[in-house]
Amino acid sequence: MSQQPPTLTPDTPKTETHAEATTGHEYDGIQEFDNPTPAWWTYIFILSMIFAVAYMMYYHGGNLYNGVEAEYSMDVATNNRVKYAAVGDLQMDEATLLMVLQEPSFLEMGRSVFRGNCVSCHGEDGGGGIGPNMHDDAYINVKEAGDILTVINEGAGDGRMPEWQGRLEQNDIVLVAGYVASLRGTPTAMPKAAEGDVIPPWPTAKPATP
Ligand code: HEC
Repeated sequence: MSQQPPTLTPDTPKTETHAEATTGHEYDGIQEFDNPTPAWWTYIFILSMIFAVAYMMYYHGGNLYNGVEAEYSMDVATNNRVKYAAVGDLQMDEATLLMVLQEPSFLEMGRSVFRGNCVSCHGEDGGGGIGPNMHDDAYINVKEAGDILTVINEGAGDGRMPEWQGRLEQNDIVLVAGYVASLRGTPTAMPKAAEGDVIPPWPTAKPATP
């Protein structure tokens, strides 16, 4: 029901007549129409105020919600608990590394640690980049399998290989070390030229104690 605005001519009387009622409020000759906002609009407005109070209480007050970061680290912790339930506490020694090397599901976990932290320098599949190729038999800092743990833990090459202790869980260090060891002798798409000295093959894992 829209009304056409009245056409103004010099003869138009100063006071226009409108069908709508006024509130009776007048100032400087300006009258206020009684033209309330529609009910649906008012309800949405009131609901948004109620929502705002609830939102503020939930997100900004009290202990119900601790922020995205806290939620994330809680999820990571849960994820680690589930993951490590199968793994247990891995020791930083060669025997454990050789055990991981025999266990495909552990190597798979090591691979995801590698993907998350190491590919920027060692290449998508460990073929090398800033850091050396992990597929060949030559190593710069590694003389025997256990040295892989030390290199990852403490870094190497004056920090060009960063140290990961304190940044990765010990379990993740052992898992990724196992994964790196498992790459040796497997093909890679873009191999970087060998660096360092060729070292003897990894010993095979001792059978688990009965
Ligand atoms: C910032 C780059 C960088 C990142 C990230 C990095 N590395 Fe390295 N890494 C290097 C460099 C450079 C070397 C060679 C150091 C040297 O010249 O002595 C190296 C060496 C190594 C070595 C010893 C290889 C050898 O020939 O002695 C291992 C094992 C290794 N990295 C594993 C890892 C793992 C596992 C990760 C992820 C947790 C990782 N690196 C992340 C740069 C990196």
